[in-house]
Amino acid sequence: MVQVNADYLKLKAGYLFPEISRRIKDFNSKNPNTDLIRLGIGDVTEPLPLACREAMKAAIEEMGTAESFKGYGPEQGYKWLRESISKNDYSTRGCEISAEEIFVSDGSKCDSSNILDILGKANKIAVTDPVYPVYVDTNVMTGRTGEANLKGEYQGLSYIPINSENGFEAAIPKEKFDLIYLCFPNNPTGAVATREQLVSWVKYAKENDSLILFDAAYEAFIKDDSIPHSIFEIEGSRDCAIEFRSFSKNAGFTGTRCAFTVIPKSLKGKAGKEEVDLWSLWNRRQSTKFNGVSYVVQRGAEAVYSEEGKMQVKKLVSFYMDNAQIIKANLTSAGFEVFGAINAPYAWIKTPNKLSSWDFFDFLLENANVVGTPGSGFGAAGEGYFRLSAFNSRENVEKAMQRIVKL
Ligand code: MLT
Repeated sequence: MVQVNADYLKLKAGYLFPEISRRIKDFNSKNPNTDLIRLGIGDVTEPLPLACREAMKAAIEEMGTAESFKGYGPEQGYKWLRESISKNDYSTRGCEISAEEIFVSDGSKCDSSNILDILGKANKIAVTDPVYPVYVDTNVMTGRTGEANLKGEYQGLSYIPINSENGFEAAIPKEKFDLIYLCFPNNPTGAVATREQLVSWVKYAKENDSLILFDAAYEAFIKDDSIPHSIFEIEGSRDCAIEFRSFSKNAGFTGTRCAFTVIPKSLKGKAGKEEVDLWSLWNRRQSTKFNGVSYVVQRGAEAVYSEEGKMQVKKLVSFYMDNAQIIKANLTSAGFEVFGAINAPYAWIKTPNKLSSWDFFDFLLENANVVGTPGSGFGAAGEGYFRLSAFNSRENVEKAMQRIVKL
């Protein structure tokens, strides 16, 4: 019989969102015809911007004649999209990121997992707690950890707690880590990192020869002008950081799939004593394992940077941020302690009466027919918290708030 990758057997109960789906299915089978409102997974609900749809339609027409038909595209993404990203997302913010340093992909979840392909197994790794579960689970799957303890913490990973006591600000570690995952605006807590905090992280990474994996999938939701949108706004970061960005949340591409990863050419790692370019390794990896994002979708993503596209995306983002504000205001006035939801589309709520995260999940599901995400699903330090996502229609968000406030 074939041997399986036994590292998968170390994974706890299951990926958080499938576990939530399982509970919803169970609830629905016992309570058919219930009007459930889902503020759990951060999946967008509003239509794709018109500019993106029009660009995709035109691209489909191009695929309809032999003269303009496209087969395989460049594995790294089409030059015109990479140039648009470089100009609009980086040059305008004073970051020195060339089109060549941008790798277009089908998602940040995939990229933040696949990046482990080019990184050694002996690296000492730190994540925040709570954390986006994909960072942890993919380290488990690839044999970079031992077993989990009763709190669900894996041997071999170090956890930096972020909680209300430290203002959801991860303390700069005293010990040396080779690899640090940071996500800002943060999923799940909705916290943001100030420029000073990011300067400290870059300083730490440079002093310790560490690599920061910076997930900026939610940067478009930052309202406060003083908050950086990219790690590359920080001097020195080209030598110590990789950034993941996505069209999923700002432009509604969760089902359409388009994202990108930035690897500066100056970024180095080591193979024994020899210095190696991470850019070259990732380029090699992508050329071997990936055939690029479809032409039609890349044309859609390019339209995000057109004048109409920019306006439409801005409108989408403020629509969801108004939802976030409605969630925060209602729950705060109902006596909940609510964090985040100011520069991020997630509200991070302290569960009432010291209920556990899953108990509060079940309570809301049964009594308000509202689905959220239990904080403990993001790590041991998320216990006693609960996440509500702002990605839903205005009507559903308002209805969900009325139901919760009434409880
Ligand atoms: C979340 O709810 O945390 C996100 O939707 C997950 C993701 O973007 O993969």
